[in-house]
Amino acid sequence: MNLILMGLPGAGKGTQAEKINERYNIPHISTGDMFRLAIKEGTELGQKAKEYMDQGELVPDDVTIGIVKERLGKDDCKDGFLLDGFPRTIAQAEGLESLLSDLNKSIDYCLHVDVPEENLVERLTGRRICPECGTTYHVLYNPPEQEGICDKDGSELVQREDDQAETVKNRLKVNMEQAKPLLDYYDEKGYLVTIDGDQEIDQVFRDIQAAIE
Ligand code: AP5
Ligand code: ZN
Repeated sequence: MNLILMGLPGAGKGTQAEKINERYNIPHISTGDMFRLAIKEGTELGQKAKEYMDQGELVPDDVTIGIVKERLGKDDCKDGFLLDGFPRTIAQAEGLESLLSDLNKSIDYCLHVDVPEENLVERLTGRRICPECGTTYHVLYNPPEQEGICDKDGSELVQREDDQAETVKNRLKVNMEQAKPLLDYYDEKGYLVTIDGDQEIDQVFRDIQAAIE
């Protein structure tokens, strides 16, 4: 199954991607995670991406399409993939279409996790992540058993740098500008399924399962 997960920052893409990956065993490809890893490793890509991410801006399309191209060409994507946070612009959507046509593949569903804008700031500023295993928590909506500590490995949870209130505002603005044309693009192609993301995490997942099974 070839899936795209779409939604504004904080909509719950990463949270649902983790569940989809566990249940269906398809590789989770998050451009945000790939950029964060590159930053951590101090690569040239990381240095470039950081300039944009710190401001809440989008990384340029050519860079982003380039890393997705490399990733989709890997063996584990042969039987399916889950794109999270890509495409985010029409240029990226067109880039993806041409990549997939070269690989003789196509999209099955574009799942739009829809959450009212007014909930997103709180979701983002309350998010905590495990620097070791990447698990995502929320101080109110998805807290770990012990405050500030990862359930899986006991690591101390941290806040993502771009989840500071100042950066969050610009991220939302930038992403909202791109969202509508992209949704229209996938709607016209008949791939778009809208999922109500303003429900409990497990219910959102059940709705996703119902949509794709
Ligand atoms: P990226 O890492 O993709 O961030 P994002 O799109 O801003 O999305 P988030 O990861 O913030 O949110 P999410 O939807 O995954 O929500 P989550 O599940 O964590 O991108 C970061 C940056 O990289 C971009 O700003 C850009 O600079 C760059 N970039 C990445 N891709 C790019 C591209 N294609 N082109 C150009 N630049 C790109 O949930 C959020 C919180 O809510 C968590 O705390 C969670 O526990 C909680 N939560 C989740 N679901 C629920 C629920 N149902 N109810 C209550 N709380 C919930
Ligand atoms: Zn952990």
